[in-house]
Amino acid sequence: MTKVWGGRFQKETDRLVEDFHSSVSFDRRLYRYDIKGSMAHARMLGRAGVISAAEAGQIVTGLEAVLADIEAGRLEFSVEAEDVHMNIEQWLTDRIGEVGKKLHTARSRNDQVALDMRLYLKEEIRAVQGLLRDLIASLLGLAEKHLDTIMPGYTHLQRAQPVTLAHHLMAYAQMFLRDLERLHDCYRRTDVMPLGAGALAGTTFPLDRDYVAEQLGFEAISENSLDAVSDRDFAVEFTAAAALSMVHLSRFCEELILWCSAEFAFIELDDAYSTGSSMMPQKKNPDVAELIRGKTGRVCGDLQSLLTMLKGLPLAYNKDMQEDKEPLFDAVDTVKKCLLVFKPMVETIRVKKENMRKAAGSGFTNATDLADYLVKKGVPFREAHAVVGRAVLYCLQHDKSLEELSADEYRNFSPVIGEDIYGAITIDRCVGARRLPGGPAPETVREAIVRARAKLMEKS
Ligand code: ARG
Repeated sequence: MTKVWGGRFQKETDRLVEDFHSSVSFDRRLYRYDIKGSMAHARMLGRAGVISAAEAGQIVTGLEAVLADIEAGRLEFSVEAEDVHMNIEQWLTDRIGEVGKKLHTARSRNDQVALDMRLYLKEEIRAVQGLLRDLIASLLGLAEKHLDTIMPGYTHLQRAQPVTLAHHLMAYAQMFLRDLERLHDCYRRTDVMPLGAGALAGTTFPLDRDYVAEQLGFEAISENSLDAVSDRDFAVEFTAAAALSMVHLSRFCEELILWCSAEFAFIELDDAYSTGSSMMPQKKNPDVAELIRGKTGRVCGDLQSLLTMLKGLPLAYNKDMQEDKEPLFDAVDTVKKCLLVFKPMVETIRVKKENMRKAAGSGFTNATDLADYLVKKGVPFREAHAVVGRAVLYCLQHDKSLEELSADEYRNFSPVIGEDIYGAITIDRCVGARRLPGGPAPETVREAIVRARAKLMEKS
């Protein structure tokens, strides 16, 4: 097959190289964007008088037919044609003849591929945002049902202070809301139209770049031709955002995995989102959650690949940049798949409220509240801390909880402790009295849900 760039060559490309440098096996997924971009470019060339209006019309009609043929599976991408761009151009020329060869006027694959990647990513950012929004909405719904479901809050994975399941779920809702914002931001910088940059130095033809941007729904055009063809910041930004969403999912999955172990026994996953063992008949495993946790590594790796690929590149385009595709595609596919399956998995958990409450009620999770009680009676906090520390030690030695100490026992630790102590350190009071904005009290979390819902609407 003769190459479009074959003119200055005297030898055929080596077979190994042919295969090695071809990207069509993976960049074929850009065909819709490539065709859309070419149509806009052709229309603009026609309007600017670079080609005739009739020629532009023929090219657009030809491209429509190529698109239909690809979608109907009538065309096979060929490795010899190197990449998606040249496959499509070849089919166009096969179909409409000589005039097809005019499409690439005032364009390079360098600005073409930058355009395709941006068109592709804009669509995928919207898709990921949609999935994040669904997940957040579902977490808000679940939180609403568990405003009074008391559970232990942890630091160092040691029981610390009681919170509620609603409060815990809302912590994740906040993370995903931030993810949504990050994507919103990344979208703005992806929404820039690079055509007109040519190979690197623009073109002498009187292109109407704004008209191309307008046809394709871009908010802005690139400011610098060198930057336009060598910038992949948008791919890095998206992958960074995706990696962070995966990290959020992974932390959540880790907790679900712990919670459904017999050691915690806080939840049970639905059968539809668990799997069994081929040998041990009794097993019910949280494979889906584990796999999401596992796939997080891929997306972090995708980010690393992109950053490393770019770090030593001189301006402008370098073939290294062809390596932007697989990591970006993988990040997109992985985060979408994980968000999609995570939502119904978390929605269908069966919450074992009693176990959560029991766990929250032991391990001296009300010790801080006892110290605060002393402070409110005038004891300096550091002293109160020491007094309660001694009380906890006493309880450990006598196998008691703080609320099981008698009034006499309490008096040994501090004279200011009265009968009102028992009401001050119940688990419900520990949670209910934490009413500051951002706290776990049921009423406070209810308001947080309302605010999160408003934010979710505003980001739509
Ligand atoms: N397949 C190439 C890529 O993905 C398209 C641009 C090629 N440009 C070039 N001058 N070799 O980056």
